[in-house]
Amino acid sequence: GCIQDAGKDRLGMELQEIMRGKFPHFMLKEIFEQPDSLFNTMRGRINFDSYDVRLGGMAEHLGTLKRARRMLFVACGTSYNSAVATRQFLEECTEIPVVVDIASDFLDRACPIFRDDVCFFISQSGETADTLSALKYCKAKGALCVGITNTVGSSISRSTDCGVHINAGPEIGVASTKAYTSQIVSLVMLGLMLISDSKAKDERRRAVIDGLKAIPDMIREILALDAQIKAIATELYKESSILVMSRGYNFANCLEGALKIKELTYMHAEGILAGELKHGPLALIDSTMPIVMLVTDDSNFTKSENALAQITARHGRPLIICNKDRTPKTEEHTSELQSPYDLV
Ligand code: F6R
Repeated sequence: GCIQDAGKDRLGMELQEIMRGKFPHFMLKEIFEQPDSLFNTMRGRINFDSYDVRLGGMAEHLGTLKRARRMLFVACGTSYNSAVATRQFLEECTEIPVVVDIASDFLDRACPIFRDDVCFFISQSGETADTLSALKYCKAKGALCVGITNTVGSSISRSTDCGVHINAGPEIGVASTKAYTSQIVSLVMLGLMLISDSKAKDERRRAVIDGLKAIPDMIREILALDAQIKAIATELYKESSILVMSRGYNFANCLEGALKIKELTYMHAEGILAGELKHGPLALIDSTMPIVMLVTDDSNFTKSENALAQITARHGRPLIICNKDRTPKTEEHTSELQSPYDLV
């Protein structure tokens, strides 16, 4: 399909891209590459002046996508997290049910698939065995199968009906980093393309396109905080466990953050949906439990602020990741609470 066509004659360029340069390891290089890798993901696909979005590989299949009864996103690990990250936006755009599944679990359940489902397989490498098996399963059921991969000519890109190459450049580091952000941007572009004819969603569509344009510079700003972030990480690394929590758009980032911490530090880490706090996880909170909370300026800001109040009421002392110009209220609660389930 179309994924294959994207990368002919790239060998020379790839050799250059995989040089480690001044970085001690590939993962760090790839984290720092993100302003460029994201630019490359969007290049030739979004026209920031005319607000046109076009994913060449999907253009012929837009009708099928719009008529779908359901969209399923199947992947493993970080690639799965990118589907969790974009699910809400894709539901908003398509107004059809969007299902997100871990490939191994999808196969264990022998999930029912219909001809009018559209199934997406997200994979950086394009070779992950469970994702590939899920693809074969869905293909046999007659559903349109779409690949979202970073590897031209990979098994998944060759076996799908059509797809999107995320164009992040080769990812050599074992822990996935720049692929995650490029997968997210690719799926957001897919949503934008699906609403390109909608008058009702035009304002929202333009706002999201403006947001995408700003991303590379925003990432540069965050990367400039490297030394400060490293100092915090050096402290946290002394702990044995860490909780990462938020809700809404940021939940996927909690899962992904926790996954990266596990893989790289061998510490226990858990991504927690803040809306679930009172259904169990609050029991873990006290002044000694390392917690990271994401409280960013989005539609869930107030709810995230409430979650923060629940944590500080338990004497939790979270490290907060937030926007510069909108920081959450933090109240120091000193009252002694009787049971871990007492809510203030
Ligand atoms: C995490 C990580 C893995 C992969 C997963 C899927 O850092 O690298 O969780 O994301 O094995 O791999 P792909 O995307 O190649 O199918």
